[in-house]
Amino acid sequence: MEKKDYKRTLVTCALPYANGPVHIGHLAGVYVPADIYVRYLRMRGEDVLYVCGSDEHGVPITIKARQLGCSPQDIVDKYHNIIDNSFKALGINFDVYGRTSSKTHSKNASDFFKKLYDEGKFITRESEQYFDPQANTFLADRYIVGTCPKCGAEGAYGDQCEKCGSTLSPEELINPKSKLSGAEPIKKKTRHWYLPLQDYEQWLREWILEGHKEWRPNVYGQVKSWLDGGLQPRAVTRDLDWGVPVPVEGAEGKVLYVWFDAPIGYISNTIDLLPDSWEKWWKSEDTKLVHFIGKDNIVFHCIVFPAMLKAHGGYVLPENVPANEFLNLEGDKISTSRGWAVWAHEYVQDFPGKEDALRYVLTANAPETKDNDFSWKDFQARNNSELVAIFGNFVNRAVVLTHKYFEGKVPAAGNLQDVDRAALAEIPALRDSLASNIEHYHFREALKDAMSIARVGNKYISDTEPWKVAKEDMERVATILNVSLQICADLAIAFEPFTPFAAARLRQMLDIEPGWEDFGKEEIIPAGHTLKPAELLFTKVEDEQIDVQLAKLDEIRKRREAEAAAEAAKAVVPQKAECSFDDFEKMDIRTATVLEAERVPKTDKLLKLTIDTGIDKRTIVSGIAEYYSPEDMVGKQICILANLAPRTIRGIESKGMILMAKQGDGKMRFITPQEALSNGATIG
Ligand code: MF3
Ligand code: ZN
Repeated sequence: MEKKDYKRTLVTCALPYANGPVHIGHLAGVYVPADIYVRYLRMRGEDVLYVCGSDEHGVPITIKARQLGCSPQDIVDKYHNIIDNSFKALGINFDVYGRTSSKTHSKNASDFFKKLYDEGKFITRESEQYFDPQANTFLADRYIVGTCPKCGAEGAYGDQCEKCGSTLSPEELINPKSKLSGAEPIKKKTRHWYLPLQDYEQWLREWILEGHKEWRPNVYGQVKSWLDGGLQPRAVTRDLDWGVPVPVEGAEGKVLYVWFDAPIGYISNTIDLLPDSWEKWWKSEDTKLVHFIGKDNIVFHCIVFPAMLKAHGGYVLPENVPANEFLNLEGDKISTSRGWAVWAHEYVQDFPGKEDALRYVLTANAPETKDNDFSWKDFQARNNSELVAIFGNFVNRAVVLTHKYFEGKVPAAGNLQDVDRAALAEIPALRDSLASNIEHYHFREALKDAMSIARVGNKYISDTEPWKVAKEDMERVATILNVSLQICADLAIAFEPFTPFAAARLRQMLDIEPGWEDFGKEEIIPAGHTLKPAELLFTKVEDEQIDVQLAKLDEIRKRREAEAAAEAAKAVVPQKAECSFDDFEKMDIRTATVLEAERVPKTDKLLKLTIDTGIDKRTIVSGIAEYYSPEDMVGKQICILANLAPRTIRGIESKGMILMAKQGDGKMRFITPQEALSNGATIG
C-alpha cells in the first residue's frame, strides 16, 4: 500500500488555536478525517500514534486577553479544556492532546531554534516596525487600527480589513493608531531572525513536485504556485511578550513566531507522552508521518515546517498532507470572529447521543476537493433517511426478528439461495474499496462503501421478507436471519472508523468483537451464539431540534446585520467640492408646515405633500414614503428649498424640495426647527 516499507504511522492534526472553541469546519476539515484514518489503521493492526494539542501562542490570543481583561494564560486554559473535552465527546481520542504553553514545549522549541541558530541556519535582518511610544512596545500588525485605504471602513487592522476582506500592511492604513494606547505609532528599527526559505526551494521542488505527485491536487497545486512564485526569507521571531522567548543574548522582548513554535508542538507533545521513545516516532525512516490540516495551513506544513525539519536534520518528513478545503455553514463562510459557526461543544450538548450523526454528515459532505456546505436540513435528512432508515433499520430488523423467532440465538443457515449468495458476495468488493479509499484519503468515498453494505443488508431483508416467510418456512427464516446477522457483523467493522459509538453498540448487541480479518467472511457470528437485547443504533432528529438550531443562527445573522447597520450609519460621506457664497445665497431655504399628505398612487417612495410656505400653499412631491407615512407628515414643521425650479413628477408639478438629513445607512429624516417658527422664516 505504500511506496516505502513503513513500520508505524504518526498522525498529526493541526493544533487548534486556544482562543475559541472548535467548530464543524475544523471537525470536517481536519479532525474527523484524521480520526477515521487512525481508527482504520488501528483495526488493521498498524502501530499508530495520534498527536494533537492546543496552539496557545500568537497575537490574537493576546488581543482577546486584553479585551477580556485577563491574561493570555487564562484564555488558553479555558479553551484548551473546552476543545479537549469536545474532541473526547465526539470520540476523537488523541494519544496525546498537549499544549504549546507547556514547559516541555518551551524547552523543545527553544532548543530547536538554538540548534539552527548555532549552526548558522538563520539570517538576521533589520527592519522598521511600528512601535507604540506610549506603551513602549512594538506593535504586531493586528495591534494597529485605522481607516481602510480600499473601502474607507474604520477599524481596519494592520494586516486585514474585515469589512472588505483586503489584505493590508500597516503602512497602508490611513490614520493608524495603536490599539494598546491609542497613540500614533512610530517606526522603529528592530532585528529579527529569518529562515532563508529560498535555499530550500530546489530541495522542496524535488521532494514534493517530483516525489509526491500523488498528493491531493489542491495541496500539490498550492505548493507549486508558492514555489513558482519564488520563496523569500521568513521571519521566525517577533517582538511580543507572549510566546517562547528567543534563546539568544540580546533578544529580550522577542519570542519565536507562533508558526515557528506551533508545528514543533507536534514533537513536544510526543515527548510529553513518550519521553523515552519519542525519537522512534520522529526520527526513524520507517515512520510514516501524515499531517491532517485545513487548506489555510498548507504552506506551513508543506514548505515552512519541512524546511525547518530539513535545516535541523534527523527528522522524518511527511509522507502526505491531506489538506481539506473549507466547509461553509448554511451558505455562508464560517467565521469565529463573527460567531457564524456550529460549535463542537454546543453540538454535543444539544444532541446528546448523536455524536455519530455529526461525524457521519461531516464525512458525507467533507470538503475534500472543493468547499462544501453544511445545512441543518441536510443534517436531519442524512440522519433520518440514511443512518436511521437504512443502517439502523436493517440492524434493528435483523436483531429483533432473531429474538422473536429464535430467542436471540443465531439460527444456523440452511442451503443458501441465489439471493443470499448475491448479498454476501457484494461485501468483499465493498470492503476492499473502503480500505483502498481510506488509504488514499478518500473518506467520503469510503463512507459510501460502508453505507453500501448497509444498503445491501437493508435491501436483502426487505426483499426476502422473513416476517412473511415465518408463516410457512422457519428453516428459510433461519437462513435469512443468519445471513442478515453476518452482514450486521460486517457493518460493525465497516462503521468503526466513521460512527464509532454505533459500531460499539452494535458489537455489544451482537456480543462479538470482530476484527478486520473477519470482514466479509460468510460466518462471522457462529450459529447458536446468543445476542443481547435489541437497541436502536440511531434515533431521528426531529423538526423541532432543527428549528432550534436554525433560530440560533437567525439570531446570529440578525445581530450581525444590526451591528453592520449601526456601523454603516456612522459612515460619513466626504465633503463636496467648495461652493461660493454667491452659490449659497441663490438658495431660498425656509420653514414650512405640511398641511396634507397622500401617497402618490402606484409608487413606493413618493408622497404628495401640500405645504404652507408662508408665501403660498403649494405641492411638493417627496421621495420619503419609505420612512414616513402620510399621517406622520401632516402638521409637521419642516425645512424646504423654496426656489428649486419646478419639476413634474408622475404628472404632478412639484415646486420645491423638502430638506432631509441622510445618514450612512441611507435612512432619511426631515429637519424640524428646534422650536415652532412662523412659516416662511428664512434659513441661511
Ligand atoms: N493553530 C493553527 C490554525 O488553527 C494550526 C497550527 S498547526 C501547527 O490554523 F502545526 F502549527 F501546529
Ligand atoms: Zn476595507
